[in-house]
Amino acid sequence: MTTTPNLRETEHDLAERFESFQAMALKLDMTRGKPCKEQLDLSRGLLEAITSDDYKALDGTDTRNYGGLEGIQEARQLFAEVFGCKADEVIIGGNASLQLMFDTLIRAHVFGVPGGERPWGQESKVKWLCPAPGYDRHFAITEHLGYELIIVPMTGSGPDMDKVEALAMDPAVKGLWVIPKYNNPTGESVSAECVTRLAAMKTGAPDFRIMWDDAYAVHHLGDVGDPVDNILDACQSAGHPNRVIMFASTSKISHAGAGISALAASSANIAWTKKHLSKQTIGPDKVNQLRHARYFKNLNGIENHMKGHAAIMKPKFDAVLQVLEEELGETGLATWTHPNGGYFISLDTPPGHAKNVVKMANDAGVKLTEAGATFPYGKDPDDRNIRLAPSFPSQLEIELAIRVVATCVKLSWARRG
Ligand SMILES: Cc1ncc(COP(=O)(O)O)c(C=O)c1O
Repeated sequence: MTTTPNLRETEHDLAERFESFQAMALKLDMTRGKPCKEQLDLSRGLLEAITSDDYKALDGTDTRNYGGLEGIQEARQLFAEVFGCKADEVIIGGNASLQLMFDTLIRAHVFGVPGGERPWGQESKVKWLCPAPGYDRHFAITEHLGYELIIVPMTGSGPDMDKVEALAMDPAVKGLWVIPKYNNPTGESVSAECVTRLAAMKTGAPDFRIMWDDAYAVHHLGDVGDPVDNILDACQSAGHPNRVIMFASTSKISHAGAGISALAASSANIAWTKKHLSKQTIGPDKVNQLRHARYFKNLNGIENHMKGHAAIMKPKFDAVLQVLEEELGETGLATWTHPNGGYFISLDTPPGHAKNVVKMANDAGVKLTEAGATFPYGKDPDDRNIRLAPSFPSQLEIELAIRVVATCVKLSWARRG
């Protein structure tokens, strides 16, 4: 970003344009990364994947009955291919990976984790590293547990590892959040160096955990996805096999909120999870697991299916990028990401303007994710980051919404400098 922005329009022009948007009484929503109807329709066959007398898993398990805590074998195998691990390192969860993450941290808090000296809830203080801009719901879980959230800047290829390594030496720091591929919201993927360093670094806490949320593992916009090294293998090779727990779901593959989720981890972490899970439930929804395993079959099936998602998402991402370029490209007022996948584009306004821009856009009928939401405690220290979620609105709506947002960035600057 240049220090002397180059605005072609006057404040008066911009104010007039803003008022013309207001007069349109728009009702556009770009707040959350929800799949649109056309994306959900791609999985239409999912509900017919089980016929009335065909409900048995490969091993003969009647999926309609109780049991099978860790999930049916074919669903574990499906996610093992997504994670790049063995099927017995996978547990299939319910409809939301967030629930698996929440439950994992609650178990650590109440009972402690393998390799730990005591439950985290009995520590005098627990701190948690939060690469930011990041996912508000991650931060909310660790805030809810009373942990002190520490911002770690993102670099464009994952969290700033110099900072992570230094902060992880504090024994009160018990772990960190990572979205390895197409980070929400910056769209970046972690480098091979980042994976190696996370796996190998010294930590002050013997029971340090990486919450590796691979929510966008297969969500590429083009033919080739960003490569990300296998962190489970890296942790194993570095002598820290229990350091990482990986999470994913089909929320943005099949049905959001009605798919299946999974975690993957070392055998000790899997045994620990099962021990506590067995007190929580008699077993998961295996019918939905069977539907997904039959419908997708294997990673190749998922990858083919995701091409349908990409065909819908790519033009929407392109529309955002094109309008941002047209409106803001030569102004030097803002920067934004060009992700190869995922659900978001991250826009940085000049410092001190994001809240104002989000408010102005809202006044013109365009709802955006709350400014600050991408940082711990909902506070962006520079008040500059805005998350744009293009999946749900139509392409025409997106173009209009982004014109409004860009006009707000320029008007905010023209008025307040
Ligand atoms: C990084 C990330 N993790 C998890 C989720 C939610 O996943 P699930 O529906 O499996 O709980 C989202 C949804 O936006 C997300 O962006």
